[in-house]
Amino acid sequence: MGTQGARVAGHARVAASILDADAANLAREIRRGERGGADRIHVDVMDGHFVPNISFGPATVAAIRRVARRPLDVHLMISQPSRYVEQFLAGGADSVTLHVEIDEPKEPILRAIRAADRAAGLAVSPQTPIDALEPYRGLVDIVMVMGVNPGFGGQALITECVAKIARAREFLADRPLGEVHIDGGVNRDNAELLGAAGVDILVAGSALYRRGRDLGREVRLIRSLADEGWAISHGGPRVPRDRWVPVVVVEPDRAEPIRAELVALGIPAIVVASEGPNARGRREVLVPAPAESFVRARLPELTDDAGAASLAGAARGPAGGSR
Ligand code: DX5
Ligand code: ZN
Repeated sequence: MGTQGARVAGHARVAASILDADAANLAREIRRGERGGADRIHVDVMDGHFVPNISFGPATVAAIRRVARRPLDVHLMISQPSRYVEQFLAGGADSVTLHVEIDEPKEPILRAIRAADRAAGLAVSPQTPIDALEPYRGLVDIVMVMGVNPGFGGQALITECVAKIARAREFLADRPLGEVHIDGGVNRDNAELLGAAGVDILVAGSALYRRGRDLGREVRLIRSLADEGWAISHGGPRVPRDRWVPVVVVEPDRAEPIRAELVALGIPAIVVASEGPNARGRREVLVPAPAESFVRARLPELTDDAGAASLAGAARGPAGGSR
C-alpha cells in the first residue's frame, strides 16, 4: 500500500523555505523546489515588529497557492496574527504556525485554524522552552522548533535547540500524526543529527536556494540523512508516513462511524471493501501506518460492539501483508 511510498520512502520530509529564493521569480523558484523533490513549500511571514525583517503578506501567499502543487506551510513571525489569520487561511495555507512568544491570546487563533480544517502550529524560538506550549496541549498539530533566532535565512543552527525536538514529540503524544518541524540552519551537515532526534519536517532555505546548488540533490541528501540518523540511533527504520494499514474489519454500517471518530481525533481514515473469501461484504478501516498503534489502543472505545469488530491485524496477519 502507500501510494506515494514509491516516490519517497521513509519518514522525514523536506520543506523548501523560499525566503532566500529569487523574489522576482517566485513561481519559477517554487517549481524548482517542487521539481527538486521538496515535499512542502514553507512561507515565512515577517512584520518588522516581532522580528526585525519584513517579508511576504497574505496576497503573496494566495499567489503562491495558485502556482504551488505541494502543501503550503505558513510561518507567521508577526506580533498580531489574530488580525491576519483569516486572510492566510483564505489564501490557501495548508498549515498556519504562530509564535508562542507573542502577547496575543493564542488559543482562539489555533481554534480558528482548526475550524478551517488546516493544521495549527506553534513555533518556539531558541530561548523558549517547550514547557511554554503546555497551555495549548490538544490544540496543536505542529510544533516548529526554531534552530535560529527568527528573522533571517542563512544563519547557523544553534545546536542546543536540537534537544527540544524530543520534548516536542512528547508534547504531541495525543497527536500521532502531529509534526515536529525544525526551522533554521538545516543543511546536509546536521540532517543526520536532526533525524536521530526524531524530527518529521526539515525546513531548509539557503541550503536549497543558494546560487550554484543542485537543489534536488540537497533535498535528497537532507531527507535520506535524516532517515538514516533515525535508523542508526533507533536500531531500525521509522515507519513511513504515507503507508496505509487496515486496523479493523467491520460490518458496513459500522465503518463510517468509526472513520468519523478517527477523523475527529485528527487521524485521517479511509474505508475500503474487505477482500478475500471470508470478507462477506465487510469493510476495512485504514489509517496511516505511524498512527496504527495509537488507533489500536483506542479501538475498544471506538468499536463499542466488540462482537461486530475484529482487529484486521489479528484476522489477516500483518497489516496489508506489506511489512
Ligand atoms: C527564519 C525562517 C526560516 C528561514 C530558514 O526566520 O523562519 O524559515 O527561511 O532559512 P535557512 O534554512 O537559511 O536557515
Ligand atoms: Zn520559517
